[in-house]
Amino acid sequence: MSDIQTIKEKIDIVDLIGEYIQVKPSGTYHKACCPFHNEKTPSFMIHRDRQRFHCFGCNQDGDIFTFIEHMEGMEFIEALKYLADRAGVQLTQKGSDTNKHQKNRIKDINAAAAHFFHQFFMQMPASKEAMAYILGRGLTTDTIEAWQIGFVPDQWDLLTKYLLKKGHAIDDLVVAGLTIKRDNADAESGRGYYDRFRGRIMFPIWDIHGYIVGFTGRVLVETEKSGGKYVNTPQTPVYDKSRVVFGLNKAKQTIKKEDSVVIVEGQMDVITCHQAGMLNVVASSGTALTEQQIALLKRFSSNIRMAFDADAAGQAAAKRGIDLALEAGMSVRVIRIPEGQGKDPDECILQNKDHWFTAVEQATDVMNWYIEKAFAGKDLTDPKQKQAIAEEVLPEVSRIPFAIEKDHWLNMVAGKLGVDIAVLREDVARIVKSETKKDRVVGQLSQSGSSHQKEIEETEVPRSQVFFVLEQFFSLILAKNIENAVELLTVLDPVIANHPLYKFIKIGYTAGHNRDVIRASLVQKDQEVFDRLLMQAELSFSNMSDREAEKEAAAYVDQIIRIWKREKRTALLAQIEIAKKTGNEEEEQSILVQVQQLQ
Ligand code: UTP
Ligand code: MN
Repeated sequence: MSDIQTIKEKIDIVDLIGEYIQVKPSGTYHKACCPFHNEKTPSFMIHRDRQRFHCFGCNQDGDIFTFIEHMEGMEFIEALKYLADRAGVQLTQKGSDTNKHQKNRIKDINAAAAHFFHQFFMQMPASKEAMAYILGRGLTTDTIEAWQIGFVPDQWDLLTKYLLKKGHAIDDLVVAGLTIKRDNADAESGRGYYDRFRGRIMFPIWDIHGYIVGFTGRVLVETEKSGGKYVNTPQTPVYDKSRVVFGLNKAKQTIKKEDSVVIVEGQMDVITCHQAGMLNVVASSGTALTEQQIALLKRFSSNIRMAFDADAAGQAAAKRGIDLALEAGMSVRVIRIPEGQGKDPDECILQNKDHWFTAVEQATDVMNWYIEKAFAGKDLTDPKQKQAIAEEVLPEVSRIPFAIEKDHWLNMVAGKLGVDIAVLREDVARIVKSETKKDRVVGQLSQSGSSHQKEIEETEVPRSQVFFVLEQFFSLILAKNIENAVELLTVLDPVIANHPLYKFIKIGYTAGHNRDVIRASLVQKDQEVFDRLLMQAELSFSNMSDREAEKEAAAYVDQIIRIWKREKRTALLAQIEIAKKTGNEEEEQSILVQVQQLQ
């Protein structure tokens, strides 16, 4: 059996897809709203026994590999390795191919580097100071193990040499971001290459599947020369900081179970939270939350609670992230660590972990935070400053789609400003007007971009109308007990004569075979279409009785013949035109006869 087959047998497609979207049983299938295009009613069907999915809305279809490729933006070879690892299957035939793939090699190199850093940290005397520092920050040995925290001493090329000795290629180390190459570097002698991370405590960064994609390294003591408190892996083929959520691989199950995610700023915050028993915590790692990170989180929960630095930069970054999350339809609350209880979650927990748990518990609606922020430091006796407050907070209020909630906040702002709520309502109306104008411009801009939706639309092949009705008809015939099926199929003879699949279905019915026998008589490609027709039937006809189905089938046949004749006639008339132009009278006559026969 091939590797692909073995993996397919070990991984249930319904379970796999169910980790990404909500899947509901429907007859012998499962259905869902398609993750590849926007829709409100499900047209995405999964066929567990056949291990395939198909969307009747956007025509995406495939197996577990295709699904992972599309969903994770992986290439086939990456998806293969990922699913093989997940299924616990050792790749045989294709094994060497997956290693030839650069992204897979880099992930292997990262794993080897993490192992090296961690072993060095745990065993070498040169790590004593670093260990004292980490233990001094309250981390336990268990935590150090669980997060594979490591250390690398301040030497030029310790790691590079180690990885070269392990048989990795110098070019791969450079691409992985672990080794830096000078302009005058010489690959033969290995001169001119040095480690990016030197004299730092090393934190591996995992992607959602548990592969190490990069690192962040912290100096023990910040000095002028230390070159930044944290140094991170640069952009590599496997590491894109806007797509990684630190800690998500460890937190995702709890996030899903509790339907809530806590977002903090730093890696140390995440690790300390987990050690304190709060397991749904992740970090965006020092940047504003990006659209991709939000999409990733949304798979597990739509309820965000955020903690961020109180400084201006921290707040501006937070606001960008919050706006994106709100636009993505998530509910956002803001965590405030009270004055004097620590500047970040890590400090707060170290002082008293109950303070942190309470702060998370009491996270307030994001609107409260906006309002407080707008009022902070303003002089309410100055009418200009009062207007400035309104300008800052009303756009946020106006975005709330619910009237009562909106009114609640308007009331609060009016009260604090000491103005009549009617005045604020006027301002809101003005803002809404100018915002919709802006939106329209932005909408047009993003439409001209290459959105996924558009790509899908463009790959759709225009097909004749009769094709669609035929598909519906055959899916109905296959799914329901229709007594006069053979008769109906005979009426359709001229239409399906050249269609391999439909012809075989007719032959099978005429011979009195059942569905499974008919399916077995088909080539694999047609079997796939056959399965799709059955799924389509589940979507369209699951609530129909056999009697209704019979009537429906007869109506389809009428419709098919009618459309087919019309399309055929148009085609023949076009041929006549050509015959006329080329002066081929004989041809013209023969086509004319065909047109008359159609009537
Ligand atoms: P902070 O300066 O708040 O650090 O930066 P921290 O998380 O509290 O770290 P400790 O407690 O001092 O060890 C927040 C995050 O910003 C990123 C890191 O991801 C950090 O966790 N950062 C910060 C960098 O990438 N580089 C830096 O030089 C500083
Ligand atoms: Mn900190």
